[in-house]
Amino acid sequence: MTLLTVWADTDPLNALIQTSDRDVISAELAELGVAYSNHPVRDDVPPSATQDEVIAAYQPMVDALIAEHGYTLIDVAQLHTGDDAESQAIAAAARLKFLAEHTHDEEEIRFFSAGSGVFYLHMNGRVLAMLCTEGDLISVPELTTHWFDMGVKPDFTAIRFFREDDGWVGSFTGSDIASKFPTHDELTAVAVSRA
Ligand SMILES: [Fe+2]
Repeated sequence: MTLLTVWADTDPLNALIQTSDRDVISAELAELGVAYSNHPVRDDVPPSATQDEVIAAYQPMVDALIAEHGYTLIDVAQLHTGDDAESQAIAAAARLKFLAEHTHDEEEIRFFSAGSGVFYLHMNGRVLAMLCTEGDLISVPELTTHWFDMGVKPDFTAIRFFREDDGWVGSFTGSDIASKFPTHDELTAVAVSRA
């Protein structure tokens, strides 16, 4: 279940807002220039689907986004972590990549066709944790300080949209703020308990 949690950036113990109401989430994020929407997902795209198969399954939505925003590159990021040591080592390394606060020179757009991940946006003295689940499309504006947690056992398929082929490169702020806030797994537990 999609879940937005908002804290003051100095107080990770006391949430100011916690909601799964998509209208409230859209409004909160829109105020910050963060686009959010939810779209129907296909139930005939297995975790083993190739990048081309995933994109083809969502071609009308992909084409509409390209037409509207002028994206030039599309790819698919997916991790479906198994129980074997090699799979878990790959997952742990992938999780660490963007787990600290950073920015990008272009917006970060993700459509979760399966699974989940949390974008933490650090803006205007607040931290907004957006637990994205299947069907969620989010666009984090360029230069927004943020981090991303895919969880200790990543399981997601996400279509990514870019304008530049190095648009995903992160500039890390050096802040340890990310380590102070609830993780993907903790927020997922909250979302499950609310469902
Ligand atoms: Fe990022």
